[in-house]
This record gives sequence, structure tokens and C-alpha cells, in this order.
Amino acid sequence: MSSNHIKVTDRATKIEYAIRDVVVPATKLEEEGHEIIKLNIGDPLAYPGLPTPEHMVQAFQEALSKQENGYSHSYGMMDLRIAISKNEKSKNNGGWNCNPDDVYVCHGVTEALQIIFAAFLEEGDLLLSPGPHYPPYLTYPQLYGGRTVEYRLNPSDNWKIDFDDLESKMNENVKLLVLINPNNPTGGIITEEELDRVIKITEKWPQCTIISDEIYDRLNFDNSHISAASRSKSVPVITLNGVSKVYYAPGWRIGYMAIHDPENRLTKVRDGIERLLRSRLCASTPAQKGYLAGLSENDDWMLKYLNKVKKQRDVCVKRINEIEGLEVQVPAGAFYMFVKLTDPQWQNNDKKFVLDLLHEEHVLLVHGSGFSPEFGKGHVRLVYLPDEKILNESFDRIDRFLTRHRENFSDS
Ligand SMILES: Cc1ncc(COP(=O)(O)O)c(C=O)c1O
Repeated sequence: MSSNHIKVTDRATKIEYAIRDVVVPATKLEEEGHEIIKLNIGDPLAYPGLPTPEHMVQAFQEALSKQENGYSHSYGMMDLRIAISKNEKSKNNGGWNCNPDDVYVCHGVTEALQIIFAAFLEEGDLLLSPGPHYPPYLTYPQLYGGRTVEYRLNPSDNWKIDFDDLESKMNENVKLLVLINPNNPTGGIITEEELDRVIKITEKWPQCTIISDEIYDRLNFDNSHISAASRSKSVPVITLNGVSKVYYAPGWRIGYMAIHDPENRLTKVRDGIERLLRSRLCASTPAQKGYLAGLSENDDWMLKYLNKVKKQRDVCVKRINEIEGLEVQVPAGAFYMFVKLTDPQWQNNDKKFVLDLLHEEHVLLVHGSGFSPEFGKGHVRLVYLPDEKILNESFDRIDRFLTRHRENFSDS
């Protein structure tokens, strides 16, 4: 390597994103002419049958043709903020008193996270996040001097929160406690009783704010999702949501944070958040128009989509129950399942499982340790957005792979 190479920062080289990292070898195989079944990415548009609704696309297009291509307000277009606040207020389960001023529109939840971490975390501060969890909760806090500590979700009890573990990890340095509900990668949904317990624990730590990532809120098969903000009378809760998942438009990059702060503890943090938002100008204006149409117009279509996804979930659960070497807790929401590899050879080798399966059978999953080195290992995440035929074909291949390796393992 040339001695003239300019140094890269440690913070950049520490960044990993398991979901897209496994795409690199898959792309290489594709370049060699192989067709890969990709069950790795939580993007509904990557699979046929779940398109962005037409009325939303039209609203986006109309904004373009009317030249609504300028910057919007830094906190978001007011009519969108009003629509989001109405949506938060009128949720089936757990509406809460959300005002338009409490809503800040961002370039996806991912940008909202960066802004929140920048406003909350100082050197040495901690963020508690469920283990396993969506990877940015591990990677981004460290950019701001913070550190992520995981609290355990119970793999044999529907990935429910292990409260002893959570409580033992709370201390005065914990500035943010993250809930992902429904969870990526487990599909678990937090019950009302669990939410109340989380809030009760957090009440003991007045410097701590709850982040409730509810981006899969309406992807819940038993209509059992409840927003955390609706349960809290004192602890600040920042709800995250957007257009990516339940409105099937992740490429638009529109999401929001909505702040519930019953005791006005976040006045100073809010000022910081607003400064950060102004400094990055605004989120995409025509995409905000598209989201507004989604929130304001009839959403009967959503149930049809949900039923399709649910049917696909059921196919996966049935197949997994029939395959030796796999086990799964039935997910109640989102479009992922976190599958346990029960053969001993894979329990500490979930990444090798993913890479070998990719090379030998051309099916792409994500290794569980990418969602938590401690609580995700020995698992793989599977996305059940493709149609039943593709899912069945994937399970035929996974079964074949497991059987072959079990035989090889016992021979060796
Ligand atoms: C829990 C969770 N939060 C946020 C995101 C990303 O949200 P956005 O597309 O709004 O940045 C994802 C995407 O997979 C996710 O799983």
C-alpha cells in the first residue's frame, strides 16, 4: 500500500451493516451469472406484489410537475406534520396527544436517529437497545461518543424483554432506552404490560428518554401493537415512524420523530434537535407530498397487503417446523423471522452458515450475530416478503443444505 494513503478515521472503519455487507459476495455471484434468492433485505419493493400505492405515487408525481421542488420547512411541511399528528392521535391502539409541533420530518428514521444521538449523547453516555436489534442502534451512537449496551430479549419466550437484565443495566449514564416495536429482526411485539414495566423502570432514571421505533406499527397480525407514548405520563418518549415499511416506499426516504414530553424535560434537547434539523435544511419536498397522500387518503389497501404478508409468514412457519435443524418463534409483526439454527455446527457459526448457503444454494439470508454478537448468534434473519413459491423454493434449498452438512459433519 502506498505510504501516501490519507488516513481514514477509526469511527468510519468501525461501521458495519450486516444486512448490506452480505450483499457484496452475492453481487459477485450474480456477476458470475448465478441467480440469487434474496431474503436479506427488508425492502418490500425488492419483491413483486407489494408496490407503493398508486395514489401516493401520483401525489409525488404531481408535486414534481407542479414544480414543488423547492426546500420545505426544516421541520417538515406543516400539512404533513398535521397529518402525522392526527395519525398518532387516532391510532387503533394507543393514540396519544401529539401536536403538529411535536413532529419533525426527516430523511427516514435513519436520519432521525442520527439527529437524536447528536442531541442526546455525550462522551461516556449509554444507550440501551434490545438484543438483537436493527444494526444502526449499535453503529451510530459511537459516532457521538456514546456506547450501546444490549438488554436481552428472551429467545424461548417470543423474544419478550428480560426485565431482570434490563433493570440491571440501567444507571445514570443511560440517556436513551430503545424499544423496537414490532422488532426487527425478531418480529416480536411488546405487550401493554411490558410497556408499563419499561416505563416504570425508566421513571427511576430522570435523565433517561425512551426511543420507540414503531416503523412497523401497522404490520402487526393480531392488531396488538400499542404505542409507547400512549402509556407514559412522565417519561419522555420519542416515537419514530415513516413511509418506508407500512406505506411501502422505503426509497422515498421520509420518516419522522414525534416527541411526547409530558413534564417538559426535553426543552433544551428540543432546541438542539431543531438546530440540527435547520442545519441540514429539509427532507425531500415531493416525497413528503407522497407520504401526505398516504396518510390522508383511504388506506383499505393496507389490510390486503398485511394479509398477503401474513399468509407468507404462515408458509414460512409451517416449513420451518418441518425442517430438522431450524426452529422459530412465530413473529406477531414486521416481515422478518429470526430463525434458530439448532445443528451444533452452526450455533457459533451463523455467518459461515449464511455464506456457505449463499455459495452452495444461492439463497441469501443475514447472520444473526450481525444484529447482536451476544444475543443474535446461532440465528439467521429471513425476510418473508417474496411470494409463497419463492419462499418454498428457498426452504427446499435450505433443507437440502442442512441435510448435506449434517451428513458431512457426522462423517468427519
Ligand atoms: C427498526 C427499523 N427502524 C428504522 C428502519 C429504517 O427506517 P427508514 O427507512 O425510515 O430510515 C428500519 C429498516 O429496516 C428498521 O428495521
